[in-house]
Amino acid sequence: MKLALASDHGGFKLKEAVKAHLIEKGYEILDLGTNSEDSVDYPKFGQACGQAVAGGQAERGIVCCGTGIGISIAANKVPGIRCAVITNPFMAEMCRKHNDANIIALGGRVLSEEEALGLVDIWLENEFEGGRHQRRVDMLNEMGK
Ligand code: RB5
Repeated sequence: MKLALASDHGGFKLKEAVKAHLIEKGYEILDLGTNSEDSVDYPKFGQACGQAVAGGQAERGIVCCGTGIGISIAANKVPGIRCAVITNPFMAEMCRKHNDANIIALGGRVLSEEEALGLVDIWLENEFEGGRHQRRVDMLNEMGK
């Protein structure tokens, strides 16, 4: 599976940790930056990840900023994107099972590296349950058109 990664400066260190973790696990990575802790604007990185996933250059994506919030808002502006900010294992599981989140957003100033990598694994290991949740996800997708 190919995963798109993007961050601003507040999420840069976490993005690098996520990238190393995923490469170790055999995932293919599309790294959309940023490439240092120099200050940048999170909207364009969130949008880039959203466009990569919506456009099929990557199957799913992970975005990181200081809180995960700003970059998730940007990713969610792209039609077809369901980006979830997650901060605990239950959210990591449910955003996949119920919301079919195709991007997760992590906060580099919120989560430890160990916590964040654990959440990434849970999200990747779970699948969308479909069923009654499919109709609601379809409604979200219609809203984004
Ligand atoms: C950057 O200082 C910070 O605002 C950003 O990383 C993020 O937390 C925004 O939601």
